[in-house]
Amino acid sequence: MSEDAKPDDANVIVRPARAVQGVVRIPGDKSISHRYAMLAAIAEGTSRFHNFSAALDCASTLDCMAKLGCEWKRLEDGTIAMQGMGPQLDAPAGVLDCGNSGSTMRMLSGILAGQSFSSELSGDESLSHRPMARIMKPLVEMGARISSTDGGRPPLKILGGPLRAIHYKPEVASAQVKSCVLFAGLFADGETVIEEPIRTRDHGEIALRAFGTEVERTGNTSRIAGGQRLRAIEAHVPGDLSSAAFFLCAAALFPGSQITLPGILMNPTRARLLDILMQMGLKVAVSHLEQHQGELVGSIEARGVAWKGGVIVGADTAALIDEIPVLAAIAPYSEGGLEVRDGKELRVKESDRITAVATNLRKMGAEIEETPDGMKISGGQHLHGAELDSFGDHRIAMAFAIAALRAEGETTIRGADAAGVSYPSFFEELRKIAESE
Ligand code: S3P
Repeated sequence: MSEDAKPDDANVIVRPARAVQGVVRIPGDKSISHRYAMLAAIAEGTSRFHNFSAALDCASTLDCMAKLGCEWKRLEDGTIAMQGMGPQLDAPAGVLDCGNSGSTMRMLSGILAGQSFSSELSGDESLSHRPMARIMKPLVEMGARISSTDGGRPPLKILGGPLRAIHYKPEVASAQVKSCVLFAGLFADGETVIEEPIRTRDHGEIALRAFGTEVERTGNTSRIAGGQRLRAIEAHVPGDLSSAAFFLCAAALFPGSQITLPGILMNPTRARLLDILMQMGLKVAVSHLEQHQGELVGSIEARGVAWKGGVIVGADTAALIDEIPVLAAIAPYSEGGLEVRDGKELRVKESDRITAVATNLRKMGAEIEETPDGMKISGGQHLHGAELDSFGDHRIAMAFAIAALRAEGETTIRGADAAGVSYPSFFEELRKIAESE
């Protein structure tokens, strides 16, 4: 890694490494931090969150909650203390800026739909192109009035009020949609039910329970009764497994590498990643399993041996949707390559992640076949350093920093500061564990 690679640099140079070695303490999980901040605002009492995510996305959520009247502060040790307001928030004075964060916009809309005021949510250039019809449809069915730009794109204007409970079957498997509907369900008259096509991450259900509400789940169906009150909590946010994935993939690239990641989220709806990494050849040991507010946490020790590659399809694609960019970026170095199918959603993330991965891999000299819902990358390829673009997408910036570690020659990542959206200290941490050639 280049000594110039400071976390706030827009362009970062990554030099080849011969191994990765060491301990990385990963910041708190982004998905859980968003949900905690939103629910703490509508709870009664003061909540405290240790190891709250450092992601700029979660800062967007905290900013929005402040605009809605919720007072919060960061204590000296980094703990976030939030003063709950109960179910009714204050009408915001201006537009709620969600920045780059689809999670903020989609999940907060569920709470805003139940408020007795109108609000407007906007976002940056990338967020302004992301699909919002998926949350507008159920919220309108529940009785909220929502308008958007053509085709269901932000900004969103929401006129909230008392809501009707619904039984909703979303077409897309999305945990953000599920949390949005369950949050709105708190403001509905009766029991709101959401039945997912594929089981998605369940941090919404777990957080709602931690805050004292009853949420029932059987199979892929979650139910919540309206009118339940939330009580403040104190919680330690587990390390983000999707951020840990970059270091696990770095270890996978170099036989003999060893990394330790303490206190990582092990929620079964996220930890499928570890099974797949093991199937693909990484040696993984998990120890010190504990539960924090219903979320499973453990320490990971990973060793690189041989990287085989494999196939990611169906429910696995949905479960690994955030980790596919880095798995694809390192796939050319694998023995057998990688095939990803059923990943249409990859095209509507912070960037079109299929095109972004294909463009950058080609610049590094790799062959890759793009399909409408995935990609095929053969193994045994040799890559060279190149000038790459993050496409303004945090996970693309970080994925290609990892791929660059095994390329020949140095790689420049333009717009690498996008990493801050989920992991501001990523390049600093990578520099510490990468052993130069
Ligand atoms: C998230 C769900 C996923 C994921 C995103 C975070 C969440 O999005 O890609 O990074 O916290 O619920 P979708 O719900 O759009 O699949």
